[in-house]
Amino acid sequence: MSQAETPSSCLALDEDLLFEPHRIVEPSSWAGHVPFGAWLVAKHAPRRLVELGTHTGFSFSAFCQTVQTKGLDTECYAVDTWQGDEHAGRYSDTIFEELSAYHDKRYAGFSRLLRMTFDDALAYFSEGSVDLLHIDGLHTYDAVRHDFETWLPKLSDRGIVLFHDTNVRERGFGVWQLWEELSGRYPHIAFDHSNGLGVLLVGSEIGESVHALAKCYAERPAWVRGLFAQLGGRIENECEIRRLRPLNEARGRALEEREEMLILRDNAIAELQSALGRQERHANDLARQEEATRQQLEASRSSQQQLQRDHDELKQAFESLQQQHQQVLGSNSWKLTQPLRTLMSRLSNSRS
Ligand SMILES: C[S@@+](CC[C@H](N)C(=O)[O-])C[C@H]1O[C@@H](n2cnc3c(N)ncnc32)[C@H](O)[C@@H]1O
Repeated sequence: MSQAETPSSCLALDEDLLFEPHRIVEPSSWAGHVPFGAWLVAKHAPRRLVELGTHTGFSFSAFCQTVQTKGLDTECYAVDTWQGDEHAGRYSDTIFEELSAYHDKRYAGFSRLLRMTFDDALAYFSEGSVDLLHIDGLHTYDAVRHDFETWLPKLSDRGIVLFHDTNVRERGFGVWQLWEELSGRYPHIAFDHSNGLGVLLVGSEIGESVHALAKCYAERPAWVRGLFAQLGGRIENECEIRRLRPLNEARGRALEEREEMLILRDNAIAELQSALGRQERHANDLARQEEATRQQLEASRSSQQQLQRDHDELKQAFESLQQQHQQVLGSNSWKLTQPLRTLMSRLSNSRS
């Protein structure tokens, strides 16, 4: 493609670029490659597709869904022990049982899950019979090289090999190293997003659409990478949304519980406040009663003092009268008038 040519002249902008996967599961490290994987199956229309390493079936289900919706005449095979490995981790039988139930209900007419090692599966495929091979097993250099070399003879003259995790450089991953070696020997497309996907065009009879895209990639790699990274981003976002949904729901429930607790707390505060109001009124009543009692006490104390003063005055007056009386009794005039008083008393008695 010359600089004057538009990129769209090497890639039909049709519905094959807008694939919506039905099966979105964890792990979702392949999610960003779903649009390219579906586009590739639709355009390449492989007669036989083999996946080495399927796990929960994110990539394989996208391939099968494309075969079904496009009505392709493709045989699909997923090979896996469904036991896990040192990179994917070890997992239980429920992974296989769940995938198997999902897969058999929809795709059993053209697809098989082969529960065995990649090496054991070799015996069930004749040489030159595989149009599309997806290598996504153990990701050490030795393992992926072994998988490529043992399965290479099975590829047809239309053979294309996909390598996942070409852009992971940690935990002993070595796909990047093999990819560097192979991509110098075959036409290819390489994506960096979603841990990297290498697309190796091994056969000499690659169809027009894929060939055109590879040519376009050779001339404008950033444009092809950017396009499929953008398309893949939609699916990655969907995975992220699904991953966060339970967290959001849990957070929503926690918020609801918190709101209920706040309502309960507000009710308790309102009850405490009204109890406090009642207690304050009661305390005010008691204070008023205490004041009244104090005033009564004060009044009775001052009337008691008044009584005491009256009593003292009367006592003084009585004592003064007693003194006067004694003075009268002791006076000469009282003594001199004694016979007179006696006479008057007798007279008074005789009259009565
Ligand atoms: C990275 S996972 C596959 C991911 C899958 N393609 C997806 O879309 O999510 C690797 C799988 O390869 C399987 N595996 C690794 N080495 C294997 C071998 N030699 N034979 C069979 N299965 C193997 C593991 O059991 C594991 O399920």
